Amino acid sequence: MDEQSYKARRTTYMQRMKKRSVALFFSATQKTRSNDTEFPYRQDSDFYYLTGFKEDNSVLLLVKEKKSTKEILFVQKKDPTLELWTGKRLGKKEAQKRFLVDKIFLTQRLHVTLKKLFRDKKRVYLDLSCEEKNCLHVAFSFAMNELISQKLERLDVRDISRKMRAIKTPQEIALIKKALSITKEAHHKVMAMQKSGKMEYELQAEFEYLFKKNGAYSDAYTTIIAGGNNGNTLHYIQNDQMLQDGQLILIDAGCEYAMYASDITRTIPVNGVFSDTQKEVYELVLQAEMKVIEAMKEGVLRSDLQRMAREILCQGMVRLGILEGDVTTLLNEEKDKKYFPHGIGHWMGLDVHDPCPYKDKKGKELPLKSGMVMTIEPGLYLPLDDASVPQKYRGIAVRIEDNILVTKEGYENLSYAIAKSVEAIEALYSYT
Ligand code: GLY
Ligand code: MN
Ligand code: MN
Repeated sequence: MDEQSYKARRTTYMQRMKKRSVALFFSATQKTRSNDTEFPYRQDSDFYYLTGFKEDNSVLLLVKEKKSTKEILFVQKKDPTLELWTGKRLGKKEAQKRFLVDKIFLTQRLHVTLKKLFRDKKRVYLDLSCEEKNCLHVAFSFAMNELISQKLERLDVRDISRKMRAIKTPQEIALIKKALSITKEAHHKVMAMQKSGKMEYELQAEFEYLFKKNGAYSDAYTTIIAGGNNGNTLHYIQNDQMLQDGQLILIDAGCEYAMYASDITRTIPVNGVFSDTQKEVYELVLQAEMKVIEAMKEGVLRSDLQRMAREILCQGMVRLGILEGDVTTLLNEEKDKKYFPHGIGHWMGLDVHDPCPYKDKKGKELPLKSGMVMTIEPGLYLPLDDASVPQKYRGIAVRIEDNILVTKEGYENLSYAIAKSVEAIEALYSYT
């Protein structure tokens, strides 16, 4: 994305700010993994959305006066000794050339600048959860103290940016599509692999290898490779068991490309062929997934989609003898939730669970709008130790997940090319 696009986002943000206010965006902090080693650094999504800048120790201030606005970016000082260890920093001079902001300062100036800026302001937009995250704490506690002593109104800095992030631009859609093309290749490679006797982590390694090899920075979340009954643990990430002939594997894996996520689940047979029993459950989840996707268009509510998935799955569970009774009563009593306990999907973008609002300020649900990207991911989870499930279905877990763009015409399934019908999955399998 070019600098003009980031500038346009900042302009929109400032248009939505109240007068006589300052908004503070901190870069993400380094997270310790153990002792003195750190997790790979990942920029804060809101900060990145407004700057495109990936460096640590940076702060963006957006200032709205009565009649004017100002953008100030703080960057870390160049330091040859530290740069020898951790890599080049952009520095103030280069930052001045690159960013279309009014002023560039070094981060150590933040204090002084804030002090000046706060003098005639009425409100401050701040990350209200920042304290826990320990971000640039000196500046943060300073801002907090000033806020309290000057009785400035405190607003959540992320409210405006997260509303903006809900509607994706064509450039953002293109990056999600690129992420999905890399994710597709990895899923297809693993579908085609001989898997019986392999460890779950071997498949995880295949995904991670192909993500990196194809230019994706990382996975967008920890890959789930769940053989058989392990799929009944929704966020199973141990991935340390052996895959057995006759099992299904629930694979939830998606890469992050240029900061944008993909989030795909496929459930496939270890030996390449679905048994009749597995097919019964699989086809039911697939039917629910496809029907819900087909219903997506502007104006529809996420709760409508949830209800639709629940109805289809509940009817199917009664037909298969997993639930007994009248479908409407079962739904009213939420009996289906035992086997479909999670949401139908979530926003996706810079974050795999994009933290864009689902409701307006009054708590009213927001309808789908063109430009939104949502996952659709119904599932059925039938634990091995659940005596109320017919014996033949116990230990089966199926989830199918695609990434959908809402359009003016309806929807576009961005992950349509990733095999998901029984026939398409079985056709990909070969002994290699
Ligand atoms: N991969 C996490 C999720 O599906 O929400
Ligand atoms: Mn997922
Ligand atoms: Mn998901």
